[in-house]
Amino acid sequence: MLKQLLSTFPLLLIFLCCPTVFAQSPAQAPGAQSPLPAAQPPVAQSPLPAAQAPVAQSLAPTTAPSGPPNITAILEKARHFTTLIRVLKSTKLDDEITIKLNDSSQSLTMFAPTDNAFGKLKKGILNSYTDQQKFQLIKFHLIPSFLSLPAFQTVSNPMNTEAGSNDQYPINITTVGNQVNISTGIVNTTISGTIYSDNQLAVYQVDKVLLPLYFFVTPSPSPAPTPSKPEKKAPSPSGSESVPTTDNVAITASSAMRVIHHALNAMIFAGFLIAALSLCI
Ligand SMILES: *[C@@H]1O[C@H](CO)[C@@H](O)[C@H](O)[C@H]1NC(C)=O
Ligand SMILES: *[C@@H]1O[C@H](CO)[C@@H](O)[C@H](O)[C@H]1NC(C)=O
Ligand SMILES: *[C@@H]1O[C@H](CO)[C@@H](O)[C@H](O)[C@H]1NC(C)=O
Ligand SMILES: *[C@@H]1O[C@H](CO)[C@@H](O)[C@H](O)[C@H]1NC(C)=O
Ligand SMILES: *[C@@H]1O[C@H](CO)[C@@H](O)[C@H](O)[C@H]1NC(C)=O
Repeated sequence: MLKQLLSTFPLLLIFLCCPTVFAQSPAQAPGAQSPLPAAQPPVAQSPLPAAQAPVAQSLAPTTAPSGPPNITAILEKARHFTTLIRVLKSTKLDDEITIKLNDSSQSLTMFAPTDNAFGKLKKGILNSYTDQQKFQLIKFHLIPSFLSLPAFQTVSNPMNTEAGSNDQYPINITTVGNQVNISTGIVNTTISGTIYSDNQLAVYQVDKVLLPLYFFVTPSPSPAPTPSKPEKKAPSPSGSESVPTTDNVAITASSAMRVIHHALNAMIFAGFLIAALSLCI
């Protein structure tokens, strides 16, 4: 009993005399967390442009339809694109498109899948995609140039989309007369209507969701599934881009806490050691 008291007393002294030792350890925690801010996903930048939109609206309430074409309004007017609009909003791609088109040197062509097209997907597949996958999926429907219908006759395949390189996200377009066929390696479809076209933005209706080959490529060269039976769990399209999910961030934070915890335990243990040593002397 006495021995126990004696051994804890020096420990108490250490606590009281050296508060800086213990005060420092939480201060070191930010060091362990430092990878966090650097690893923020690029998506985090998109809220900023959203804040600019109201300014643009208040600047041009009375003037004629100036400013960039509004992709959401265009699709709303056409009525049967509610799923596409929902995903455009949830991924903040609507803002991204607005900002891009606000630069008059930029242009876009969008393949817009109808609600019916989304309905043809395997049930639950869209919801099973991560935000990053949805982002890539919609970007795959965007070609970074304005293409009139006749212009499709002269494109060179495979074409680049906003989703990335044509190695990972190839899209081939072939034409016979006025018919424009689109092939992704997973899905074949045809343009079934023009929703909108100026000289900067073209929006064409497609009756199938253009599933990118990359969503179905697995390390082993297994045959790609048919569009009606896509794999439930598609590989992350972010791949080597290493965009951390919030899960990763949470894991990083909790492991940092664990490090601090271990450090504290080690210090307490050291305190006991010192106490024991001082007893021996
Ligand atoms: C478009 O760009 C102009 C000039 O840079 C800016 O004032 C305006 O807010 C932008 N509009 C939108 C909708 O982003
Ligand atoms: C685009 O149109 C939608 C729907 O009409 C509207 O909610 C949104 O504020 C518009 N965006 C801009 C930047 O004007
Ligand atoms: C386009 O697709 C249709 C079927 O949808 C097919 O009959 C036609 O051969 C295709 N044309 C080209 C040029 O790929
Ligand atoms: C696209 O076209 C290229 C070149 O013509 C061809 O090598 C490739 O297999 C085609 N891919 C698809 C998905 O049709
Ligand atoms: C798409 O069409 C090509 C020929 O144009 C055909 O070889 C291929 O099997 C079709 N793919 C699907 C998924 O229907």
